[in-house]
Amino acid sequence: MSNQLHVLTRAPKARIEPEIYGHFAEHLGRCIYEGFWVGEDSDIPNTRGIRNDVVEALKNLNIPVLRWPGGCFADEYHWKDGIGPREGRKTIVNTHWGGVTENNHFGTHEFFDLCELLGTKAYICGNVGSGTVQEMAEWVEYITFDGVSPMANLRREHGRDKGWDLPFFGVGNENWGCGGNMRAEYYSDLYRRYSTYVRKFRDLPAYKIAGGANVSDYHWTEVLMREGANHMNGLSLHYYTMPDGWHNRGTAREFDETSYFDTIKAALHMDELLSRHGAIMDVYDPKRRVGLIVDEWGTWWDVETGTNPGFLYQQNTIRDALVAAAHLNLFHNHAHRVKMANIAQTVNVLQAMVLTDGAKMLLTPTYHVFEMMKENQGATSLTATLEGDTYNINGKELPALHTSASLTENGEILLNIAHFDPHNARTLDIELHAFEAKSVSARLLSGESLQAYNEFETAEAVTPRTIDGLKFEKVGDNTKLTLEVPPASVIVVKVEG
Ligand code: AHR
Repeated sequence: MSNQLHVLTRAPKARIEPEIYGHFAEHLGRCIYEGFWVGEDSDIPNTRGIRNDVVEALKNLNIPVLRWPGGCFADEYHWKDGIGPREGRKTIVNTHWGGVTENNHFGTHEFFDLCELLGTKAYICGNVGSGTVQEMAEWVEYITFDGVSPMANLRREHGRDKGWDLPFFGVGNENWGCGGNMRAEYYSDLYRRYSTYVRKFRDLPAYKIAGGANVSDYHWTEVLMREGANHMNGLSLHYYTMPDGWHNRGTAREFDETSYFDTIKAALHMDELLSRHGAIMDVYDPKRRVGLIVDEWGTWWDVETGTNPGFLYQQNTIRDALVAAAHLNLFHNHAHRVKMANIAQTVNVLQAMVLTDGAKMLLTPTYHVFEMMKENQGATSLTATLEGDTYNINGKELPALHTSASLTENGEILLNIAHFDPHNARTLDIELHAFEAKSVSARLLSGESLQAYNEFETAEAVTPRTIDGLKFEKVGDNTKLTLEVPPASVIVVKVEG
């Protein structure tokens, strides 16, 4: 069977909010400490304690938003522990993640410094589980208020005159679990109460996000929308790709084809989650004012041998790259409801962009997918229909190809293609309706095997390359082109008109 992609270039669906390419950094393992923060006295080149190599690498992704400080950590974090002279800050126990102590050297000022270095917007998650309303209200005042007030004055005492911009604020995290083990009915009332006191100074935070459902807990979404939709701008959703469940996660690098197939199937389950949570939201919010905020997603494997089980350090292969591309395609295709997504987590934790080892750093295959697809940020998703083969094993099947299309602000068409089949190359015939192409370029990510990954010694094993010699033709008002798609690959095609 041939594979055909028809793109209606004059049928815009919704804006792909740049924040769909967002990230998440928790006080967990070596994400904040070592990953971002090495301290001003470190031998690793840094700017005010934040390592330069990681910032440079991440700047190339145009990271639109960074979520911090957790995660489960957020509902035990007391922000006043992390301000003032560093040597006087409290040492605390990170009870969720390895039981390690931390000295709070990375706090509010350091986070905003990081955001400024990265050129990214801040998304802070506040403490509902073990914090008070007053504590949350004061944090927002400390961060944003420019006038004279107790918290703004305290910020000035610690060296920062003007408030920072805080566009996004989350009221708790996973309050059905680590954030307090609450029922939806109870949390929805708490959400209303806490969010009341998240006051807007200078119209910030403009966007208040309620803690949302775990995977397919549709009851949670129903209750939160029914009781709280009028008080929120966004409602979150968490879903991690774990094909064989929590107790049989397997490792990042050692897996067979059955496990690979199940991983892709599990990743594509996000489609159903977005549709069904979205359908509930449509009932209470038919104009789609409230965004679905997928503020934790990605693969979750067993930790690498010999590393702290609480640190969630895992490698990253072509399999992870395909999971990332499939998710980003799904977020594009659901852009009418999904307004932000934050992959977990940026450095050294879960499906990371970069891994570090002392002064060394590498870019993961997932990094390359984010880099290849970054021009979709701010583009408009287009109606695109794919007819094609399936990828079959053990009597089960998946679509072999998975796609999304968008129209950029510069008038280019982007075609984002994930090809899951690890054995067969495919030919994809593409038709762009009502679009006259002037040039076509494409980049490809693939590896020697599904298990291919970048190690510190071979950091270039998986990197994107250019596809040369693509031909296209004008047929009536349309443009046609044919693409040879290698096994297990991600391709981004850019068509200029
Ligand atoms: O990302 C790791 C953890 O996963 C987060 O802390 C928590 O919110 C989720 O369960």
